[in-house]
Amino acid sequence: MRIFAYGTPRSVRSTCLNGQLVSGIAMAHTGFRKVTDMKIAVIGAGSVGGTLARGWAKKGHDVAFGVRSPSKHKGDIQAVSVADAAASAEIVVLATPWEAASDAIREAGSLAGKVLLDCTNPLKPDLSGLALSGDESGGEHVQRQASGAKVVKIFNTTGFDNMANPVYGNERVTMLYCGDHTDAKQRAAQLAADLGFDPVDAGSLSAARMLESFALLWIHLAIQQKMGRDFAFKVIRR
Ligand SMILES: NC(=O)c1ccc[n+]([C@@H]2O[C@H](COP(=O)([O-])OP(=O)(O)OC[C@H]3O[C@@H](n4cnc5c(N)ncnc54)[C@H](OP(=O)(O)O)[C@@H]3O)[C@@H](O)[C@H]2O)c1
Repeated sequence: MRIFAYGTPRSVRSTCLNGQLVSGIAMAHTGFRKVTDMKIAVIGAGSVGGTLARGWAKKGHDVAFGVRSPSKHKGDIQAVSVADAAASAEIVVLATPWEAASDAIREAGSLAGKVLLDCTNPLKPDLSGLALSGDESGGEHVQRQASGAKVVKIFNTTGFDNMANPVYGNERVTMLYCGDHTDAKQRAAQLAADLGFDPVDAGSLSAARMLESFALLWIHLAIQQKMGRDFAFKVIRR
């Protein structure tokens, strides 16, 4: 059983580190919704997709990879074609390089009504900046291509190592997310909490351009500032 304490006061939320049990009193008090295990298709079985999929599988979610060559795929998590994985899932996770995102979405077929978690970052090949000019974010670009999907931008602002372990001492790493569909954002936030993150709602999907720039800052610190990959951002509150 998985419960996400969405919108709880911090005092209550701190009792559910790693998205674990929240007391019945807290649920009754705050009107939280109990969400059962989810059927998830992860498109792209690389660093991000692989880490997320393994984390959710450990938590009891029903996860499958959507990959280009299922027969070559090894590992415990089932891999099928992108189209088959997406067709049978309620949550689809886009974890391909930005350049491959359009092809992967096309390959997935209709995503109408499904939650689409966009983890991609539209980066220039040398990681020096964002590849999209103008105001449109990658997240909004994905939404235009995945007609009818409920896109949530999430899992793009920190390194995949932090997705494997988002807990530093007693602190959970912040996972910012944004989107235009409340129900989809609740699912996304629960999935982040299931991995151990502290999910923080950044607003509508138009905030994706800020999340993508924020990702650049993490990359800049990791590479140019030589901080490595073992650091993360945390929103702190009074
Ligand atoms: N690395 C990070 O720490 C990190 C953190 C946050 C966000 N991101 C973003 O997350 C995305 C994935 O990054 P990553 O580091 O996981 O990349 P990666 O390790 O290179 O993995 C990318 C995966 O995408 C698959 N792929 C490529 N084209 C595809 C297509 N047309 N259809 C289906 N699958 C396809 C590749 O499969 P094949 O084996 O078939 O090539 C590969 O498994 C990127 O947009 C990146 O900017 C990365």
